[in-house]
Amino acid sequence: MGDFLLVTGGAGYIGSHTVVNLLERGSQVIVLDNLCNSNDAVFDRIDSITHSQAVFVKGDIRDRDCLAKIFSTYPIDSVIHFAGLKAVGESSQIPLDYYQNNVYGTLVLCEAMAAAGVKKLIFSSSATVYGEDAPVPYEETMPRGKTSNPYGTSKAMVEQILTDLCASDPEWSVALLRYFNPIGAHPSGLIGEDPKGIPNNLMPFISQVAVGKRKELSIFGNDYPTSDGTCERDYLHVMDLADGHVSALSALDEKGAHIYNLGTGKGLSVLEMVESFKRVTGVDVPYSFADRREGDLPAFWADASKAEKELDWSATRTLDEMMEDTWRWQSNNPNGYDG
Ligand code: NAD
Ligand code: UFG
Repeated sequence: MGDFLLVTGGAGYIGSHTVVNLLERGSQVIVLDNLCNSNDAVFDRIDSITHSQAVFVKGDIRDRDCLAKIFSTYPIDSVIHFAGLKAVGESSQIPLDYYQNNVYGTLVLCEAMAAAGVKKLIFSSSATVYGEDAPVPYEETMPRGKTSNPYGTSKAMVEQILTDLCASDPEWSVALLRYFNPIGAHPSGLIGEDPKGIPNNLMPFISQVAVGKRKELSIFGNDYPTSDGTCERDYLHVMDLADGHVSALSALDEKGAHIYNLGTGKGLSVLEMVESFKRVTGVDVPYSFADRREGDLPAFWADASKAEKELDWSATRTLDEMMEDTWRWQSNNPNGYDG
């Protein structure tokens, strides 16, 4: 029997891909998710891929009784904590919801872990914590910078809380994983990203235009100081990101807080992404240029060498695989998990 892992937010985009990897390596997985941004149809899909099952508990990370029950029922070794709200623009409209879910929710989770004597945690952080003025590539040794929205601030706050927790109690070990831009889907086409409403992120928008759900892509800004004027980001395959969590579990043998960038180390522009999608899938993606989106930085990517050196992890899937897998998921499931 493998180790027991609690995965909060395991029904979501990155969580579900990670659950597949964990089940395939023989872990016992308990998912806690309130389904506020996901669909429980994902669990049948996970079963089809892995031929094994995660235990699903529908509940909220802010529910102390629910957490206490999980920790008393299962001999949990470690927690992977994906649950939270993630829409950057929305976070400025409803900041209290973001701090409630992301910061308070993490506090409740950590208190329940401490009460149960479980002190190993992987946290979903973001490249956004480097802030507005950091030079690229981003390195883990750089200080956290000035964040420009409540979502980013909530991630920076949780990083600080978890760092303080590790300093206060040497029994804790925490991996703060700073994701860059995950895209793509499981190669089976059975699970993928299923945003509710109009997608905020580039790749789901491109694939929804390609499948005919949206008329055209608006490219936000073509006058940035980059190679072609459009913003550059470090896009990595979600399966590589999922692998990064499995690798990070080994880092939890060492006490303290450990920060890792999970990215490819390479920036690509919005136009390069659109052209790659067209080249790989043969499907046209009409676009027009629009004003810059507030809060977007011109270009950033990871220095991914620390994760390679210490976790023996690097992103291995190609850009073509990211495009093929996105398209397989989108074209097989034009309405996501709703059919
Ligand atoms: P997602 O919305 O698909 O998954 C998050 C899951 O958490 C959802 O299934 C949602 O229902 C659940 N959830 C939210 N609040 C909850 C609560 N209070 N209790 C229980 N469940 C709750 O998002 P994702 O893209 O898979 O992101 C996972 C994590 O990674 C998030 O913390 C996000 O902020 C972080 N992250 C994502 C990206 C990205 O580009 N997708 C980049 C950097 C960091
Ligand atoms: N873009 C468009 N049109 C769209 C959507 C996006 O041109 O319809 C552009 C954006 O302007 C940006 C690039 O595509 O230049 C990528 O945008 P995304 O929204 O896909 O990703 P971001 O880099 O803005 O944000 C993502 C996550 C955040 C996280 C951040 C840093 O959504 O959670 O990466 O890690 F904080």
